[in-house]
Amino acid sequence: MLLTDNPRIAAHLAALPLPGPTLVACTVAASPGVIHLPRAEEAAIGAVWNSYDANRERRPLQHVRAFTDLRAAPWPQAPTSPLLTLQELFFLAAQHLSLHRTAGSSLAALILDPLVHGLPHPHAALLTGLVKNATWELPQMRTHAVVTDTSRLQTALDELQHESRVAGGLPVGYYRVGARSAEHLIPAPLTGQQHRNTVTDDSVIVAAGGARGITATALRGLTALSRPEIWLLGSTPVADLAHQAEAVGTTGRITYVRQCLAATPGVSVVEAGAQWDRLQHARQALHTLSMLRRQCGGTRVHYLTCDVTEPTTVKAAAEQIYRTSGRVDLLIHAAGIGRARTLRAKTLAAFRKVRSVKVDGYHHLKAAFADPAPAAWCTFSSIAGVLGLPGECDYGPANDTLNAAARYETMRGRDERAIAWTMWGESGLGPSSGFTDLTRRTGRLSLIGDAEGQRLFTTELTAPPGLAHAVPIYLGAPEQHTVAPHYPGLVPAAPAFAFFNTPARLTLCEPASAAWCLDLRPYTYLLGHRRNGRALLPGALAIELAVEAAHRLVPGGTAAEVTRIRFRAPIAAAPRDTRYELHATHTSHHEGRQSVHIEIRSTARPAAPERPRSALHFAADVILGSHRAQPRPSPCPPASSSGRQQRRGAEARLALPFDSIRRPRTDSHGVHALCRLDLTGQDLRHFSRMATCWLVIDAALQTAAFIAPGRLATPRSIGAVRLPGVLTNDHMLAASGTEIICTASPDRRQTQATVTTSDQNTTLVCIEDLELA
Ligand SMILES: NC(=O)c1ccc[n+]([C@@H]2O[C@H](COP(=O)([O-])OP(=O)(O)OC[C@H]3O[C@@H](n4cnc5c(N)ncnc54)[C@H](OP(=O)(O)O)[C@@H]3O)[C@@H](O)[C@H]2O)c1
Repeated sequence: MLLTDNPRIAAHLAALPLPGPTLVACTVAASPGVIHLPRAEEAAIGAVWNSYDANRERRPLQHVRAFTDLRAAPWPQAPTSPLLTLQELFFLAAQHLSLHRTAGSSLAALILDPLVHGLPHPHAALLTGLVKNATWELPQMRTHAVVTDTSRLQTALDELQHESRVAGGLPVGYYRVGARSAEHLIPAPLTGQQHRNTVTDDSVIVAAGGARGITATALRGLTALSRPEIWLLGSTPVADLAHQAEAVGTTGRITYVRQCLAATPGVSVVEAGAQWDRLQHARQALHTLSMLRRQCGGTRVHYLTCDVTEPTTVKAAAEQIYRTSGRVDLLIHAAGIGRARTLRAKTLAAFRKVRSVKVDGYHHLKAAFADPAPAAWCTFSSIAGVLGLPGECDYGPANDTLNAAARYETMRGRDERAIAWTMWGESGLGPSSGFTDLTRRTGRLSLIGDAEGQRLFTTELTAPPGLAHAVPIYLGAPEQHTVAPHYPGLVPAAPAFAFFNTPARLTLCEPASAAWCLDLRPYTYLLGHRRNGRALLPGALAIELAVEAAHRLVPGGTAAEVTRIRFRAPIAAAPRDTRYELHATHTSHHEGRQSVHIEIRSTARPAAPERPRSALHFAADVILGSHRAQPRPSPCPPASSSGRQQRRGAEARLALPFDSIRRPRTDSHGVHALCRLDLTGQDLRHFSRMATCWLVIDAALQTAAFIAPGRLATPRSIGAVRLPGVLTNDHMLAASGTEIICTASPDRRQTQATVTTSDQNTTLVCIEDLELA
């Protein structure tokens, strides 16, 4: 069964020579031969499958695929109704497969997506999040999803087939220009101190879902540090119920229901129980209000009855808040309901309700609080969104959509995060629903105590700019134990960075900084880069180290260029008496972008020094954020055909992988050479973790050196190395077989060098204002 919300995809699928009985259904009217399913209803999947082509031999539904195209989907608009219906049908189909458990069945989703800056559109998570959650409950089945930037449906289908054979990690593959990437969880530092005053006495906070549960507890932790003005939103009409809520006091549920049935003939047990729940919610909200008012002042904490699933109510609440407080500094979207049940036992109505509070609620809040937008936004999301969990096929994808939204908003330069909480043990749904006890028994998740939850929340909110994570997730030992057999490799055992992992020093107070001891001795291939008989660190590798350190200091940041590069003194690859250290300092904004200043320093310890001498070897600024457009490569003659052949000076001796320049030629434009990357015999895992194509940058610098034959021609300074929009490394380039041309042209006293692919369509790197020694 092929499900889609896109008539073009439906028509394409219907025209394919598909094996066996295949049904194509679309939530929008499509071409003949495609079944139109404008609404999802309970048991719709079984009904449509059985009624389809009734003359045919009955075969059980075995394989389900969902397709959507998000390439033109706007953001931050809510998902369209056909897409939501597609998700509901996909959920019902998963439920159908779970009920019938036909051998060899499969469930998969395919999403066409521009993958802007490598990030999936948040709506993609409606389907990929469902796959992640369903995979826990369909262990005998193949469950997978692909998000791809290809515009060719056939290519996308091939990628989906490829993904069905991938083992390990989350069951979602991201395909960019044909290359697969996957999500990994990378350990990131967290300290317990407050680093900036995100919330002060002047702040205005809006917390949807903040009047009770874990959010009320988290807010109480925040207000221990300052006394902000707080607006709490909840669907419970607290003022209307206050009197009854106080009267019911601590009366237990069963006693209350008995009393109700005796006092009011005709009332059902369910109604009486629901009324007790409402009164308890009102009691909890009243308690929160009184606690927060005690901390912040009697007139500074407000409660508005506001169901976030109703856009007009949310708009009215926003208008009242703007009228009274003028602005919002922090908006917390923590409204949520849990209906954890097995996939088989879930109802479509509950599925819609759980999604609506999270996803519709998010978009209603975004729309109502758009002008002026809150300075910061924090969503209370769940680990079920990141990893999927059994029983959460509604809640998991809804949370995953909000996680993806936080990433997308961060990419758009907004201060937004979604905290993917694991279980709180003392507050919220856990203790009241029996989840705390269940979690304690199964040991599947950690149980965060109130004090720890408050500390984590405050730490995330007060992280210095650039050091906040869009989607932080806390993996304790129980989570790691749960995840390891289910998603092998999701938390990589090997370091994520080629050269750095744990810094020797890390300061998160502004300006955030880190320092690493630079010990390059394990990388013996560096001994093959020799100048005048000494193994020296290639200048291009210093650039790679700078980028890696900046990425490490600013998780989620992507280097766009490295500027003001100064090579002050050589760095020995195998030093005897010298210790090198790399220092990275977050220097905040550079023309609206973040920047990290890097220095490599050495401490020499000669025989009897009074004090160790510190020397600067390398300095640069790594600029993170959006990329300036690379210039279109200017046409140059094929490297092999014209110009005068060049020979390298004898002082430089290069072994593989540095000996990469072929057929260098000079002509009136400058020097051209072919770059042949050869990583034969190298540790490819090490090279696959590199952040830049630094061997190619090295090749460009070698090419530029031919401009001054006879001189040592090592780089002294570089104005800027501009990196490609999607970072690529030498391993990827070598594997792709791309032919690379390096071009260097003297421009007055300085040199420009460019690396392009041989078809001259892609500029890989642009080196500006290179000064040679
Ligand atoms: N507890 C945990 O361990 C945990 C773990 C991971 C994630 N989370 C997330 O953290 C958030 C809070 O969870 P919790 O455990 O504290 O749950 P909770 O005690 O049930 O609190 C839920 C809050 O959401 C509000 N809410 C529900 N539906 C709403 C609606 N339609 N409009 C406005 N407000 C609504 C509730 O207020 P009303 O009843 O007055 O509407 C209440 O304040 C949820 O988003 C949840 O997904 C919690």
